[in-house]
Amino acid sequence: MAKIYSEISKTFNEYLLIPNLTTPECIPDKIALDVPLTRNSKGKDPLRLNIPFVSAIMQSVSDDKLAISLARCGGLSFIYGSQPIESQAKMIKKVKSFKSGFVTCDTYLSPENTLDDIIQLRDKTGHSTMAVTSEGCQDSTFVGIVTSRDYRVSRDSLDKKVYDIMTPYHKLIIGEEGISLSKANDIIWANKLNCLPIVNDDQKLINMVFRKDYDAHKENPLELLDKKKSLLVGAGINTHDYQERIPMLINAGVDVLCLDSSDGYSVWQKETISYVKATYPGMYIGAGNIVDAEGFRYLADAGADFIKVGIGGGSICITREQKGIGRGQATSILEVAEARKKYQEETGVYIPICSDGGIVYDNHITMALAMGADFVMMGRYFARFDESPGKKLKHGNDYVKEYWGEGSNRAKNWQRYNMSANKETLFEEGVDSYVPYAGTLKDNLSTTLSKIKAAMSSCGAASVKELQEKARITTVSATSIREGGAHDIILKEKNY
Ligand code: IMP
Repeated sequence: MAKIYSEISKTFNEYLLIPNLTTPECIPDKIALDVPLTRNSKGKDPLRLNIPFVSAIMQSVSDDKLAISLARCGGLSFIYGSQPIESQAKMIKKVKSFKSGFVTCDTYLSPENTLDDIIQLRDKTGHSTMAVTSEGCQDSTFVGIVTSRDYRVSRDSLDKKVYDIMTPYHKLIIGEEGISLSKANDIIWANKLNCLPIVNDDQKLINMVFRKDYDAHKENPLELLDKKKSLLVGAGINTHDYQERIPMLINAGVDVLCLDSSDGYSVWQKETISYVKATYPGMYIGAGNIVDAEGFRYLADAGADFIKVGIGGGSICITREQKGIGRGQATSILEVAEARKKYQEETGVYIPICSDGGIVYDNHITMALAMGADFVMMGRYFARFDESPGKKLKHGNDYVKEYWGEGSNRAKNWQRYNMSANKETLFEEGVDSYVPYAGTLKDNLSTTLSKIKAAMSSCGAASVKELQEKARITTVSATSIREGGAHDIILKEKNY
């Protein structure tokens, strides 16, 4: 007979934190938000995050651009796996080769191009400094630079050739490959340059350093770096093509893998984890998603380095409607955290858990952490920012960004959802949508982190671990949820 749970499954919104004594040790400035990302195992240092945030394994969220921004703020992105292996590996490489202040040029001209080409490229990319190479592509010899100061559209003919416009290589001041950022900036300031091209021994352009970025170069104290000072990056994988995908991702420099599936309690996840552990013992692999103790135990025993919790709670998710599968996110986290505790008592191994999906308000993040999650994975949250891959559009009077689910027809990520070979019977588990545009990742993240720290301070916790140990949590009634917002007044402005 079917097992019926007596407890109703609940979401974060149905709980509140009760304050503990706040002391000088836990004022916001003293709170540390670093957390473990991977299990503690013998002979292998666990990876850590500097803030408890990872971005969702989604086409509309985690590309190289967002990954760079998030890692610079202390979190980590899992580059989406629903793309050809080559392009996923290319994104990983871009993150790993990113050096703060060293910009990869994306505007190339050949000397034979014309002023008309320059203008078109400028309008397309928004960049006014362009590299000129012998063949007009990244791999050919660097022969000069064009900037907006080199031509006057009102005077010059549109068919004027780039070789008559550019500053040629022999007149340029250049930096050599391997130069430090501070040395590059010294050269820029000493020579009153706007841009310093960094060139290798074969006269190929490696990067550019811009004067205008000088302020942005100041050290970011939370940057998530590996031992070689490159940013950390993860990648989503599936249980189908992992034998071809993983070697290319590893070759590109990926730091951690994560199985991306709407239902992770499967023998295929176990097989994939075993394969990774046997073939690439130094590599980390997370697994999921599961929503209960049984699923957790299965993936923990299989060797998962972290376990992702959540089915059906994502903002773009219609899995619960389509299949009737899922569980309230708060209930899932509480049960899995309990199972993790038992597992640690039995084995001495601590396995981080990730709360994935359904974060609507910043206070839900604190609640997820208080209930036992080590970090949260978010899609909607990050999709709203400049750095996400979705297009920014005008929608009525507001700006929005595109955000589509991996289970939508648009993403066509059927490997995440479907075990059947029959393509005829595929159905959607996600929707295509817009989210309100919110500005830059860094600005939004600092506000969110301030709120989390303020709540932790109220709970008397100076670290996430302490929050988990000390948190006192109460359920709330529907009427007290109403009481929690502004109520019984006439608001002067619309409040989002
Ligand atoms: P959000 O932060 O609430 O937007 O949820 C993001 C999470 O939803 C992702 O990390 C995935 O676990 C999940 N997800 C992504 N795409 C889909 C989909 O199309 N259907 C169901 N769940 C999805």
